[in-house]
Amino acid sequence: MHCFKSSLGAQTALLIVAGLALSPACGTEGPGFPIVIKFSHVVAPDTPKGKGAEYFRKLVQERTQGRVKVEVYPNSQLYKDKEELEALQLGSVQMLAPSVSKFGPMGVKAFEVFDLPYLFDGYAAAHKITHGPIGASMLKQLRAHGMTGLAFWDNGFKEFTANKPLHRPEDFKGLKFRVKSSKVLEAQMRALGAIPQVMAFSEVYQALQTGVVDGAETSPTNIYTQKWHEVQKFMSMSHHGYDAYAIVVNSRFWDSLPADLRATLEQSLNDATRYVESMSARDEVDAISAIRDSGKCQVVELTAEDRLSLRRALQPVHQQMAERVGRDLLESIYSATRSDQKQSDATPPLPVAVR
Ligand code: SIN
Repeated sequence: MHCFKSSLGAQTALLIVAGLALSPACGTEGPGFPIVIKFSHVVAPDTPKGKGAEYFRKLVQERTQGRVKVEVYPNSQLYKDKEELEALQLGSVQMLAPSVSKFGPMGVKAFEVFDLPYLFDGYAAAHKITHGPIGASMLKQLRAHGMTGLAFWDNGFKEFTANKPLHRPEDFKGLKFRVKSSKVLEAQMRALGAIPQVMAFSEVYQALQTGVVDGAETSPTNIYTQKWHEVQKFMSMSHHGYDAYAIVVNSRFWDSLPADLRATLEQSLNDATRYVESMSARDEVDAISAIRDSGKCQVVELTAEDRLSLRRALQPVHQQMAERVGRDLLESIYSATRSDQKQSDATPPLPVAVR
C-alpha cells in the first residue's frame, strides 16, 4: 500500500502511471496501489460534511475499482482545526473540508467574507457564489499555501445558543461566545456587545459545560450531533450566517496523481457536492426538530422585530470588515446575489421548520 506524501517525486508518479498502463484492466495490483487519501474532518459522521465524506469515499472506491482508497477520519480523531491545516500542508493527510472561517490565520482573509452576518438570504444566493466564478477565484488563492481548493460544501445556516434566550442585541451584552478563528466573527460578536473567544471546535462542548464560554454559534446539525443542546438551555433561531466548507487537497499530492484518476476524483467530488447540497437544508430542519424533541434545549423563535433588530446591529460589520475581506470581493458578491446589503432592512429568512 502506498500513501502519498508531499515529498512524492516525479519518479514515483511515473511509476504509478506505468503501473496503470501495465496492470491488468481493473486491477488493483500495480505498484503503489491503492493510493490512500486520508480525509480528516472535525464533525460527526451524521452531518452534511460527514455524510458527504462517506459518499465520496464510496464513489471513489467503486469508480477507481479500489485503486484509490479514501480513509475518512471524523470528529477531530486525527487533528483539531488548526492542526489539520498544518497536517495537510505537510502531507500527513491529503484531504480536508474545513470551515472557510479557518483560513484567516494562514493569511487567506478573503474567505472570511462568508462570515459576514446576513450576507446571503438563503442557499440559492450562497450557491451563486460557491458555484460561480467568484468562488472559483477564491479557491485559487489557496494554491499559494500548498493546497488546492476543489469545491465548497454547505454546512448550513448558523443559530446562536446560550443559557438564556437571545432575542435582541441587548441580550448578548457581556456574554462570552466561542467563535471560529475569524476576525469577522470576532467583530460580529463585538457588534452585539458580546465577548468573542476563539476556540477549536472539539473543545466547545466542554467549554459550554463548564461555563468557560456562555454561548456559541453553528449549524443545527452540529449543535445536535455535538450535543451542545444538552449543555445549552436555548437555541435562538437567528439564522444569521451561512457556514461553508472548502474541500482542499495537498497540492503536491494532487498534482502528482495520474490524470485519469484525478478526473475520476473530481467527478466523484462533484457528485458528492450535489449530494451534500441535496440534504443540508433537510438535515437542518431535522436537527432543529430533534433539538426541540430532546426537551433539553428550548428552540427560541424570534419575532420579525427581533430579527430586524439583530440585522440592524450586525449590518455595520460589513463595512467595518470590508478592507480585511476585500472591498471589491464584497461588492462583487453583493452584485452577484443582487442584494443591497448596505441599505437592506429586509428580515432574514428562516428554515422551513420555524416559519
Ligand atoms: C465544522 O463544521 O467543521 C466546524 C464548525 C465550527 O468550528 O464551528
